[in-house]
Amino acid sequence: MSTISTLSEEEKSKYLEELFEFLRLPSVSADSKFSKYMNSTANWLSNELLKSGCDSTKVYETNGHPIVYGEKIINPSFPTILVYGHYDVQPPDPLELWNSPPFEPTIKKTDIHPEGAIFARGACDDKGQVFMHVKAFEQLIKKKKLNCNVKFMIEGEEEVGSENLEKFLVDNKSKLGADVILISDTGLSSLDNPTLTVGLRGLSYMEIKLTGPNRDLHSGTYGGTLANPINTLSEIISSLIDGKGKIVIPGFYEDVVEIEKSKRDIIEQKSKFNDQKFKDSLGLSEVKGEEGYSTLERKSIRPTLDVNGIWGGYIGEGSKTVIPSEAHAKISMRLVPNQNWEKISELFKNHILSIAPDTVSVEVSTHHGGNPYVTPENFKGYEAAINAYKDSFGKEPIPQKDGGSIPIVPMFESILGIKTVLMGFGLDSDAIHSPNENFGVKNFFIGIETIQNFYKHFGN
Ligand code: BES
Ligand code: MN
Ligand code: MN
Repeated sequence: MSTISTLSEEEKSKYLEELFEFLRLPSVSADSKFSKYMNSTANWLSNELLKSGCDSTKVYETNGHPIVYGEKIINPSFPTILVYGHYDVQPPDPLELWNSPPFEPTIKKTDIHPEGAIFARGACDDKGQVFMHVKAFEQLIKKKKLNCNVKFMIEGEEEVGSENLEKFLVDNKSKLGADVILISDTGLSSLDNPTLTVGLRGLSYMEIKLTGPNRDLHSGTYGGTLANPINTLSEIISSLIDGKGKIVIPGFYEDVVEIEKSKRDIIEQKSKFNDQKFKDSLGLSEVKGEEGYSTLERKSIRPTLDVNGIWGGYIGEGSKTVIPSEAHAKISMRLVPNQNWEKISELFKNHILSIAPDTVSVEVSTHHGGNPYVTPENFKGYEAAINAYKDSFGKEPIPQKDGGSIPIVPMFESILGIKTVLMGFGLDSDAIHSPNENFGVKNFFIGIETIQNFYKHFGN
């Protein structure tokens, strides 16, 4: 790889120290215990943006966690880049599986990152990647090379569905005017053969509650005489996917855009995706999924349905003989173009209600969702990204769709009318949302270079 960092050794260690300050703030959005840290993190970030060269910054209160905004307008006739990211992180649980505390960042060498990786909750998703943008911007100002206007909008609710950001977009449409949205909150395949993310899946997140008898019952006195809600829930769930890996909800695939096999084959070849490596990285001897599609396709261009959690009955120590009164499950579906999350949530709900037997009562509720997104390949932002990767990696990136979701991205297009470029620098092995989340030090510094290169190409 031909990458040469333009940062001095002093700058590199200073930037890591500053990132560590950011990572030490436990900005967990899902858990109200952490809410005071949401405010302190937003204030810290706002101050960093000011120090790095923004003309002004502001912390906007919302009905949830605050949004950090900052801007530098060098010339209204120049192109404007709106940088989006999130300072909130996932809960660190289960804590006992971390090799070092989640909010005490530390650098350790690993097989994948012989130069070292930063271990902390949020190191990759998304504080480390947000901070690359702050530092790239600071560098451009320092070198007098800033050639675009810049707006930063960093929210604190991405991991819980971005519900208040939608209102913020509607209320601040003109303030947020820009020529492109630039986001680093995804990954690439490897630093040697980088991919550029050109799509995100949508998401529909549902919950089911089944109620059977009006109280928990002795499983001897009553066992065999009535439907056990957990058994019934298991039957319902296992009926949702057939033997070929297809989701059986009527209408589920109706809007799915099928990609021609010949096009899929080209993508597969270019990607250098390796099933064996994939299995090894997860400690699996076999994979499973929708028939007729490769693992790469299953994790990017195909919709899915997964149980995220299931509970009910007795789960404490030892055993307790009981037929539970209730059973619960949280189920998410990943969606692809042109599925609509509200329509899919409705189809899911109707299907569950229609198949549930009369032996139980059923409630189906919607948590949150978002639509899929595809970056168009024929606009200036995309070209600038391709050229930026060429400059920093010495080769052209391979366009690839990512399996994750960032629900606000399609709203940047529908509300603000602005297209998004996804320039992420994480690796699948970074363990985002898991214990021991980490981010390669090299990835962090290449990110800072590539972002500066993006400005160079986009501003010209
Ligand atoms: N940064 C991720 C999304 C992501 C990860 C995209 C990896 C592509 C590759 C984001 O923070 C995230 O976790 N999104 C959630 C959705 C949200 C509504 C909770 C997701 O994808 O589960
Ligand atoms: Mn993220
Ligand atoms: Mn996340």
